[in-house]
Amino acid sequence: MHSPTPHQRRSTKMRLGVGLLALAATATAQRVVPISIAKAPLPGPGPHGLGRRAAYSSTLINQKNAYFTEVKIGTPPQTATLHVDTGSSDLWVLWENSDLCNSVALQEEWGTCVDTFSAAGSSTYETVGADAFQIAYVDETGARGDYFSDVVSIGDMTLKGLQMGIAVNSTCNWGMLGIGYNASVAAAEIYPNIIDLMVDQGKIATKAYSMYLNEYTAETGTILFGGVDTEKFYGELKSVPTIANKKTGAHDHFTVALTSLTAVSPSAQNSTALSTSPTPLEVILDSGTSMTYLPPSVTRPLYRMLNAIDDTSGSGSGQILVDCAQRTNTDLHLAFQFNGPSGPVVNVSAAEFILDDLRPYIAQGSLALPRNLPWKKDNTCRVGVLPAEHEPPYLVGDTFLRSAYVVYDLDNHAIGLAQSALGAAGSKIVEIKKGQGVPKVSGVAPPPPRATPAKQNAGVGRVREGLGAEAVGVAAAAALLGMGLLGW
Ligand SMILES: *[C@@H]1O[C@H](CO)[C@@H](O)[C@H](O)[C@H]1NC(C)=O
Ligand SMILES: *[C@@H]1O[C@H](CO)[C@@H](O)[C@H](O)[C@H]1NC(C)=O
Ligand SMILES: *[C@@H]1O[C@H](CO)[C@@H](O)[C@H](O)[C@H]1NC(C)=O
Ligand SMILES: *[C@@H]1O[C@H](CO)[C@@H](O)[C@H](O)[C@H]1NC(C)=O
Repeated sequence: MHSPTPHQRRSTKMRLGVGLLALAATATAQRVVPISIAKAPLPGPGPHGLGRRAAYSSTLINQKNAYFTEVKIGTPPQTATLHVDTGSSDLWVLWENSDLCNSVALQEEWGTCVDTFSAAGSSTYETVGADAFQIAYVDETGARGDYFSDVVSIGDMTLKGLQMGIAVNSTCNWGMLGIGYNASVAAAEIYPNIIDLMVDQGKIATKAYSMYLNEYTAETGTILFGGVDTEKFYGELKSVPTIANKKTGAHDHFTVALTSLTAVSPSAQNSTALSTSPTPLEVILDSGTSMTYLPPSVTRPLYRMLNAIDDTSGSGSGQILVDCAQRTNTDLHLAFQFNGPSGPVVNVSAAEFILDDLRPYIAQGSLALPRNLPWKKDNTCRVGVLPAEHEPPYLVGDTFLRSAYVVYDLDNHAIGLAQSALGAAGSKIVEIKKGQGVPKVSGVAPPPPRATPAKQNAGVGRVREGLGAEAVGVAAAAALLGMGLLGW
């Protein structure tokens, strides 16, 4: 290719219905750049496609479950609404003349294009590598095209000469803002990605950022490049090392050791280990994945406990179905502990790991549900923790990440974790200094423990039924974001 020519796209341009405001930096003396990220409905391919990618992709449920932010690219600036992804490392946009964005049939299959980019419309656009960009995601969508460089603004920060992908062919209907390690860029050679440029161009002191997704029902969260907001988490921020790729030795993903996962029932003063050490699970903290994927040996006892129905196989709904009443079970949470018995613990409440977003599909009759559900059909929710169909490392996505305040420290190969202060209104921003690592700072005081509910519900009874702890072995880390899966 590809001398891009300005050309009117035939397809309808669909804008996300949520205001995606870039916040002004609040701390002028500090090199900290906040950006607002908004949960937005994903314009998916419509209900007929629901089951198809369901194994990996909750993104097909056309509800608010992915995090987007707006960046401006080129001269004059063009808006690109991008999916924020800690699990990949390239920023890429959809070309206005891409196959997907010019075909009604393709968009019916893959979803309506969210923003497109006009290469010819930017005077600062420079081609870096024709045909050199090719990326494939675990959900088997992907994109290919060119690498280019151009000016990019994100929040109040402007970066010059950032290398980015432009998709000529795509099965992904929005662009991505990959903010992972540069070792995972989709190019043949590692290039400085957006995080590298932030430091290279003096915008932040160190390659680190904090992510606060906020609770399931909240519309927006925040990423703080170069800083930590001590009003957004409870207690201490604890640091754990990221695990290098076993094959290459490189730190290429935010992989950490999940050393125990426990279903805790405070009122019964009892808990059930879903997985335990000494065999940690290697998990990737991946904001680009809406759900969490853990081995079936871990998910099975959880589903039994919740009285949930695994409808992921065959031609079913592709979901783990559960009575929505379980969302309000305040007497149950999952405790994720990382890096051993003194490592950080993040509690995920039932209201956070059970999602109430199937109702519109049920009302439309577009979701095939099993007959004879043991609860009212209209009251069907889904569990945000799914059985992994892939090799480890496993993927821990938004259904976990919302409950955590996470500092991604790429310079020191470390992750800072604390319990997220959901719904926090205040803000107190602290810059992360060069060489400092995850700051040893405390957040707000933890809330007082909840009053013990007077009566135990069905879920809790099952917690006590003695689901045996199931140890889980971890095989060598697999390269998740393999290339060439698309067969182009
Ligand atoms: C890729 O997209 C271009 C531009 O829309 C189109 O001409 C071409 O046929 C597509 N290639 C494939 C393999 O789909
Ligand atoms: C990639 O990141 C590493 C670690 O931060 C850094 O040392 C290296 O210079 C970066 N590579 C490029 C091409 O920027
Ligand atoms: C998690 O839940 C446990 C048990 O209910 C509680 O003791 C602990 O303080 C909670 N941890 C955090 C970080 O809130
Ligand atoms: C906790 O549950 C286990 C089985 O899951 C049971 O053996 C034990 O007696 C229970 N302990 C308490 C204090 O209820």
